[in-house]
Amino acid sequence: EHKKSYDAWLQYEPVMDKSLSGQYQQYARSVEAMETSSIIQSAKQELHHAFTSMFENTAGHDDGAERCGIVLTTVESVEGPLKVEAARLSRDGYQIKSVLTSEGPRIYLIGMEEQGVLYAAFHLLRIMQNGSLVDSLNITENPTNQLRMINQWDNMDGSIERGYAGASIFYDKNGFTGDLERIKDYARLLSSVGINGISINNVNVHHVETNLITESLLPKVADVAAVFRAYGIKTYLSVNYASPLQLGGLSTADPLDPGVRAWWKEKTKEIYQYIPDFGGFVVKADSEHRPGPFTYNRTHADGANMLGEALEPFAGLVFWRCFVYNCLQDWRDRSTDRARAAYDHFKPLDGQFHSNVILQIKNGPMDFQVREAVSPLFGAMEHTNQMLELQVTQEYTGQQRHLCYLVPQWKEILDFDTYAKGKGSEVKRVVDGSLYQPAYAGITAVSNIGNDYNWTGHTLAQANLYGYGRLTWNPDLSSEEITAEWIARTFGKDEVVHEQVRSMLLDSWSIYENYTSPLGVGWMVNPNHHYGPNPDGYEYSLWGTYHFADWQGIGVDRTVASGTGYTSQYLKENKEMYESLQTCPDELLLFFHHVPYTHELKSGKTVIQHIYDTHFAGAEQAENLKTMWEMLEGRMDGERYRDVLSRLVEQAEHAKEWRDIINTYFYRKSGIKDQQNRKIY
Ligand code: GCU
Repeated sequence: EHKKSYDAWLQYEPVMDKSLSGQYQQYARSVEAMETSSIIQSAKQELHHAFTSMFENTAGHDDGAERCGIVLTTVESVEGPLKVEAARLSRDGYQIKSVLTSEGPRIYLIGMEEQGVLYAAFHLLRIMQNGSLVDSLNITENPTNQLRMINQWDNMDGSIERGYAGASIFYDKNGFTGDLERIKDYARLLSSVGINGISINNVNVHHVETNLITESLLPKVADVAAVFRAYGIKTYLSVNYASPLQLGGLSTADPLDPGVRAWWKEKTKEIYQYIPDFGGFVVKADSEHRPGPFTYNRTHADGANMLGEALEPFAGLVFWRCFVYNCLQDWRDRSTDRARAAYDHFKPLDGQFHSNVILQIKNGPMDFQVREAVSPLFGAMEHTNQMLELQVTQEYTGQQRHLCYLVPQWKEILDFDTYAKGKGSEVKRVVDGSLYQPAYAGITAVSNIGNDYNWTGHTLAQANLYGYGRLTWNPDLSSEEITAEWIARTFGKDEVVHEQVRSMLLDSWSIYENYTSPLGVGWMVNPNHHYGPNPDGYEYSLWGTYHFADWQGIGVDRTVASGTGYTSQYLKENKEMYESLQTCPDELLLFFHHVPYTHELKSGKTVIQHIYDTHFAGAEQAENLKTMWEMLEGRMDGERYRDVLSRLVEQAEHAKEWRDIINTYFYRKSGIKDQQNRKIY
C-alpha cells in the first residue's frame, strides 16, 4: 500500500502512450549481457523489474532469443567501432548507444567497468520514465567526482544520530536487522544516482559498535557489503580510535607505539579476510569527546597515517574528519573562535598525510547551519587529499518536519570560489581533484534515511537524497534540472504538480532561512535535539556557538581588524570581501561582523527591520507552502498527499512560533519598534 512512497524515484509507472510504449518494447523484449558478474546481474534485474511494471507483456529476460534489444557490456567485451569510442570513458563512465543493426535496433549500455553498465541501465530507465525517445541515443557520461559517498549515522541499538525517518534499516537491539531486502532497495536508490561508497555506522563509535571490526560482527558486515557490492557500492566502517584499548587489551592507542601500529595492521588484515574489497575507515578523532592522537601528544597526521599504513596493502582509504574544535569553551572568552579550529588544526599539517588519507571537511567551519560561510580549508591544503562533507539529514534545517530542499544550498557551496589557484578555483574543483590532482577526492554526506516506509519521513525530503547523488555525479547540473528530474520520476507528468512542487522545493531553503536564522546567525535552536527556536539556547554553553546579541547589536566579529581573525584563513579575495563591512554579503553579515541593530544593509534596510521583515515574510511563505500543496489534492495518491500535508501543517504552525520568538527576542533586546507596527509580543 506504501508502494509509491517506498519506490521513491524508481517507480516505473506503466507507459500509457502507445507509440512510446511500442518503441520501448522493441528494446525491452530482450536484455542480453556479455558478462555475468553480480553488478551486471543487478542491472539486468533492474531492467527486468522496470519493464515488467512499465509494460503489460514483456519478457525482457529472454537472453539471446531475440537479435535486437538491449545489450549490456563492458568496454572489454565490446566489438568494432563502439569499442574505439568507448575509450573516452573514465573508470565509472558509460555510454548509451542506439544502433540499427541488420538484425534490428539495439541499445548498447557500455560501461568502462561493470558499475558503468549499471549506471547506464539506470540512466536508460530515467530516460524512459521521462517519456523521451530512445531510438537515437548517443550518450557519454563520466562522473565528475571519483568518491561519491554516503555516511550512515546509525547505531546498533537501532537509533540514528540525527535521524528523522524512523529507526535504522541496518541494526536493531545491538545486532543486525538481517533485512537484506530493505538494504538492497536502499542500494538501488543510491546506485541509481551514482553513489559508490557507504559507511554503515555512526561516526560516534560507541562501545558495541567498536566490535564491528571483530570476528563476532564481521560476518554480518560482510553480508551487508555483499548487497552493496552488487550495486557498485563499497562498504566502509567508522572506527573507534581507541579500539586497541577496548579490543586489543593494549594500554595505549598512541599512534607511534609499535604495538599499536602492529595491532591495527593485524586488525585490518582480518577485516579484509571477511571483506576483500572493504573500503576503509571513517574516523572522528579528538572531536566532541571522542578519543584521538591528542591524548598522546601526537598530531592528526600521526593518527591518520598509522591507519593509512595499515590499509595500504589492501588499497583501503582513511576518511579523517576535520570536525575538531574545543567543545569545552567558556562563553566569557571572546578570543577563542570555533570557526577557526579546523583550519588551525589541519592547515599546518599539509603535505604530512599518507597518500590514502583523505581529510573529510564539513562544508562550513561551524556545523551544517542553515547558512554559514564555506570552510576556508577547501583549497588551502595543496598537498593533501580533501573531501567535502554535506548533511542530507536535516539536523538544523527542520528535521524533515519542515520542507527544506538543500540542493540550492549545496550548489552555492560547490560554486564558491576559493581563489586557491586564482579565479575559477571553486570548491567543486577542489573536491573533484581537477585543481590540485590529489590521489583521492570527492564528496560525502550524512544520509537522511531510516526505516520509515517512505525512507525520509517527509516524502519531499526524498528529493534531497536524490539531488545529493546527482550533484556528486555532476556538480554542474542546475538545481532546476535536478528538481525537474526528481519530480517527474516521483510524481509523473501532471503539469500542475510540477509547477507547484518545483517552486515549493526551490524556495524552501530561503523560506526556512527567513523565519529561522537571519544574516548568517546560527544556533538559535533548542540545545541537544536542535529543533525549534531558542535564541539563547547556545549562548551561554560550552560549545563555542554564540551570536553575542545585546541591547545594541548582534553578530560575531571574525575580522582581523577587531575580531578573532578568522577572515585571515581565506585567500586574499575572500578575506577582503568578508573583512570589510562594505563588501561582506548581507546573508553572512552577522557571521563575520558584530553590528548595531541600526546598521544599514545593502538592501537598504536596517538589521533589526530585516529581522522583523524576514520573520513575518517567512511565516507567511510557510503558510503558503501548505496552500500550494492543498491545490494538489486528487492529483496524486492520497497517502503521499496526506503525509506531506500533515508536515506542511506543522511547519506553518511552527514557523509562527519561530517568527514570534525571534522577533520578540530582538524587540526586547533592542527596544526598536517594527516600522510596520505588526504584532510583536
Ligand atoms: C554535530 C551533530 C552531532 C554529530 C557531529 C559530527 O555536532 O550534532 O550529532 O556527531 O556533528 O559531525 O560529528
